[in-house]
Amino acid sequence: MCYINDTVRYMDKIHLEVDKDNRKLVHGIEPATALYENFSRDITYPTQEQMACEAQLSAIGVWEPLSFKIKDHIWKENEKAVKDLWRPFQPKPGISNDRESILLYGAEGSEPTDPCGLAQMARNTGVKPSETSMTYPTSAKDMFTCLTEVFDYFDFGRSFAVRLNRGGHYPPHRDHLLLTRPTIRLIAFLGDSTDKLRWEVEDRRMHVIPNHLYYVDTRKTHSLWSSSHRSTMVVFNVIKNWENVMKILSKLKYFG
Ligand SMILES: [Fe+2]
Repeated sequence: MCYINDTVRYMDKIHLEVDKDNRKLVHGIEPATALYENFSRDITYPTQEQMACEAQLSAIGVWEPLSFKIKDHIWKENEKAVKDLWRPFQPKPGISNDRESILLYGAEGSEPTDPCGLAQMARNTGVKPSETSMTYPTSAKDMFTCLTEVFDYFDFGRSFAVRLNRGGHYPPHRDHLLLTRPTIRLIAFLGDSTDKLRWEVEDRRMHVIPNHLYYVDTRKTHSLWSSSHRSTMVVFNVIKNWENVMKILSKLKYFG
């Protein structure tokens, strides 16, 4: 009887206070943000290069596959190699949300098991760090050999692997809405989560080709959830500059 009560207490805590291995969760704390109208013009008003990048990116669309070859059998080997590195992604107090991540690019000295979410990173300082300050690969980067071609092609800020287990979700939100955003978002879909992972942008369900890398305009409202375990992605923040925008154009799957 005592054993059953202990189990019930543990089940009550899992995803809320501790992870599956009984480690205490690192909760994300969303810093209070100023209204856009109160931001200084230095932060909100785009430079000529920023405008050129955004205008050219708008021509791509909101959801476009790139032509990188991600080999499924290599990902399956990588998945076994990294199986002990997953940690809860940005848990919030009182909310059960089964998401796990591995940090691939972070601040200098980062470990693969360090928190990946900006709100987790802000928990001590009250300030979200810049995506572009996290350009240092962790030891996990070279364990994702299915993505070597991608790692070698762009300059990256904060990037991480994330997987949604059954019921794991991201509610509707936008990332980096301003034209002055410092990074561009690419998302790799590893393995086949075609049926179980539902991605919506502007309330429309997106079609995912397995083992493909996509440019996603995450300034637009988007949300996702998984009906099964291990829907796995890698979220890349590419440094936004003209060179990287031209590189994305060169790698469009549907080209010319
Ligand atoms: Fe997002």
